[in-house]
Amino acid sequence: MPARPRRKPLVVGNWKMNLNHREAAQWMIDYSGMNDAWEGRMAASGQPLDRPEIGILPPFTSLQSFIDTLGERGMGKQLAVGAQTVSDIASGAYTGDISADMLSTLGCKYVLVGHSEQRRYHPEDDDTFATKMRVVLDNGMQPILCIGETRAGREHGIGIDYALRQLAEAVSQMDCEDMKRVIVAYEPVWSIGTGNVPDLNVIESALADIRDFINAAFGADIAAAVRILYGGSVKPENAMSIIRLNDIDGFLVGGASLDPCSFAKICHRTAEASVTRHQRPASRGFKRSGRMSIAEFKKPDIPESRRVLAADVAREFPDTHSWRLSLALAAYRTAGFSWLEVRAVQDLIEAVDAAGSAIEEDPDMLRDIIWDSRRQIIEAMIALIERDAVQGVYSVNQWLVESDPRLTHDERCERLVQAYASSTCRRAYHYMSHGDIDYDVFCTYFLEGYLSCDANTDNRRWRRRGIDRYKSRPWFPSQQDE
Ligand code: 13P
Repeated sequence: MPARPRRKPLVVGNWKMNLNHREAAQWMIDYSGMNDAWEGRMAASGQPLDRPEIGILPPFTSLQSFIDTLGERGMGKQLAVGAQTVSDIASGAYTGDISADMLSTLGCKYVLVGHSEQRRYHPEDDDTFATKMRVVLDNGMQPILCIGETRAGREHGIGIDYALRQLAEAVSQMDCEDMKRVIVAYEPVWSIGTGNVPDLNVIESALADIRDFINAAFGADIAAAVRILYGGSVKPENAMSIIRLNDIDGFLVGGASLDPCSFAKICHRTAEASVTRHQRPASRGFKRSGRMSIAEFKKPDIPESRRVLAADVAREFPDTHSWRLSLALAAYRTAGFSWLEVRAVQDLIEAVDAAGSAIEEDPDMLRDIIWDSRRQIIEAMIALIERDAVQGVYSVNQWLVESDPRLTHDERCERLVQAYASSTCRRAYHYMSHGDIDYDVFCTYFLEGYLSCDANTDNRRWRRRGIDRYKSRPWFPSQQDE
């Protein structure tokens, strides 16, 4: 059996939007007290001390004071600091954003990239996360890349495939030197903040698959060097059994990191397990032999049999009204919603819910709300297309025709162009040519949409790529005209 590679265990506390800078200072006092006591006990018992690397990710506003307090208490060597997110842009007129340079100048060691809460609440896509990985590395910090499947994905047997796709997208521009510095955190979304931890064998198998992926894409040396953390409802009570698994190198802790006592205990369990950890043999080799391209992992085709039916979506919401179910059904039928898009249905249902409870009493209001919610489906789909999640732009056209006959042909074009402009041009053209949209009208809108998109500071990806690159394509309107 090969010896287990020595990777320094790492425990990271992600405070999310909790603990202001005063509370952070108190946290530090309490944590260091707990830690001193534990180290004293370890010394008294003669047990070897193998401290894990420990990182704290406070909110931006607590970073500076937390770093200062660390220095004052002489704990700078024991605790490192990182940020929960970063801008993918170096600098400029991006109100509210924080750049990688600002974080590294402050003394941050890590930056979380692609946390599921960021994926959920911010309109960012895989390209943006890949760019964030790049800027974090370029500024001398280590990205902690979060990947993990949703509950619906898991129930349909697409857990680790989904996580691997996220990983593949985020590291697709990296070479081996970059990859060595990446930390991967496997966080099943359904486990975050719920108290539900997957079975140990499920965690172990997921971590093995992640290391297999790294082996296949970057080679065995890199796979042996990269640290993989587990995150999702980690507590002092379950930390010891999880840290004993193969392939795990530590934890990304949310809720339990807010309590200095719980967090210290998780760190201590990790330290205690790591003393003997490297002495145990590695229990397995890699599942896949030989290298394979990252592309093989990217955006796998999802077979029909794995698609989530609207009924499944509805089951996720036990209080779903029948009309909400019909919305979900409609959305499913229209866009061929796969499990990847379940979240949009959820967003939609929440939006419709927010419209109030009066609907049952007033048929007119019900009609209006359903009408509005149809629009929301369209919005949701356009949002999905923007995130490159829905392949069926043509279906959106169909949906526009069926659901809102009041829309004129031109209005439909305009709506589609909004969607197209945020998707890729080639795909836009492809879908246009399969729809009933008039080519000239489409081109006019497309050009307008495209140009305004280019000027739109929200759409950074497009601005970066630059209009000239697209102008050279044969299907670009001006070229077609010639
Ligand atoms: P919990 O530990 O609260 O489940 O959160 C996990 C997490 O999201 C860490 O990033």
